[in-house]
Amino acid sequence: MSEAGIDRIGFATTSLFLDMRDLAESRGVDPEKYTVGIGQLEQSVAPSSQDCVTLAAAAAKDALEGEDLEKIDMVLLGTESGVDASRAAAVYVKQLLGLPDRVRCLELKQACFGETAALAWAMDYVSRRPGRKVLAIGSDVARYGLNTPGEATQGAGAVALLCSSDPKILKIEDDSRFLTVLASDFWRPTYSNCAIARGHYSTEVYLECFSRLWKQYKDETGRSASDFDAFLFHLPFSKMGLKALREVLKEADPERAKVFQDRFEASSAYGRRVGNIYSGSLYLSLLSLLESSLLEEGSRIALFSYGSGAEAEIFSATLREGYSSMLSPLRHLAAINGRRKVEVAEYEHLFSDFPPANPQDYSCDERYFAGPFRLTGIRECQRQYEAEG
Ligand code: HMG
Repeated sequence: MSEAGIDRIGFATTSLFLDMRDLAESRGVDPEKYTVGIGQLEQSVAPSSQDCVTLAAAAAKDALEGEDLEKIDMVLLGTESGVDASRAAAVYVKQLLGLPDRVRCLELKQACFGETAALAWAMDYVSRRPGRKVLAIGSDVARYGLNTPGEATQGAGAVALLCSSDPKILKIEDDSRFLTVLASDFWRPTYSNCAIARGHYSTEVYLECFSRLWKQYKDETGRSASDFDAFLFHLPFSKMGLKALREVLKEADPERAKVFQDRFEASSAYGRRVGNIYSGSLYLSLLSLLESSLLEEGSRIALFSYGSGAEAEIFSATLREGYSSMLSPLRHLAAINGRRKVEVAEYEHLFSDFPPANPQDYSCDERYFAGPFRLTGIRECQRQYEAEG
């Protein structure tokens, strides 16, 4: 049986954030609607020099510290804020990381589901090639538009999973149950850099997919809530995951229900401050929970992945012995705590400074260059990326 799983987890977000209370005040909304009703405290704000490529490369760099790059065979990047309709963003990422040309690089798209598809492919690959490694990354800038209901659920960031056949953090079990339904709950036409969301309908589809899959998972595996130590969800905003968790809580005794709730809180700590990072959101919840140190070695976790449109999957994973020594909570908290707060006017300016959807050259504002990689601009229709220094 395969032992494949996750060896290292890297994370990156932008260097700026918006306080949800400031946004609420500016939009004439009670702040508690955002901080309690939706459950978000802050959201990372991306200047145009930070996109799915630079964030993915930064998260991968974080995961690869001290690793032998020669062992990497593939870079698989799940994103729904891709920068080209043809070329995979992973090709730029490979170049920025200095990986050799023999590495295979692909982009996977199905709304927020992309990183789960990358992970599944990585599991198959490393199971057949012991000793080899694959980077499965989810990276996005979530944009709904100024003054839209979705605005409170934006964010930006990336999570990179370094996968191997002898993982040091998490073994991924071969028990996935998945489904696809055609639903117009959320999508982004190619002419737009913002998503269209039917917000309330999207939460209904999400919950319905979870109910269907959780029932199927239990029926077909014989497992129940009591077989798990924690439940993790795709978190477009923390209240969404809480609504799904409530279904599981009904099936758990009060003591275990309290444990699930506490662990859910821990899993949403990073996401409440970074916002929706689309493809990487489930894996940001994973990182947030693991870095809270609440779970013991051997713990079994259920993961629910959801991508609008819609694709959903439930699978489980088991924590490896010594897993905590592979995590970097201080570094990741520093990345979140180190962001500079922007006022609403500056956020609105940055939101509107988006590369044009026409052949004009474009320069990114150098004052916002930050992080290890950046887009400097667009020349002759080609994106110009560079590493810091
Ligand atoms: P809205 O319609 O402005 O908010 O937008 P609302 O009126 O539904 O209120 C939200 C909650 O705040 C409610 O709680 C209110 O009661 C509460 P609930 O009933 O849901 O428990 N509330 C208050 N609480 C405390 N004090 C107050 C107060 N006022 C109200 N004063 C919505 C909310 C999420 C719809 C909007 O932000 C949106 O459209 N977001 C984008 C879509 C989205 O995130 N959907 C999630 C499911 S789809 C998904 O997860 C996939 C996705 O990640 C994309 C992908 O796959 O690529 C989005």
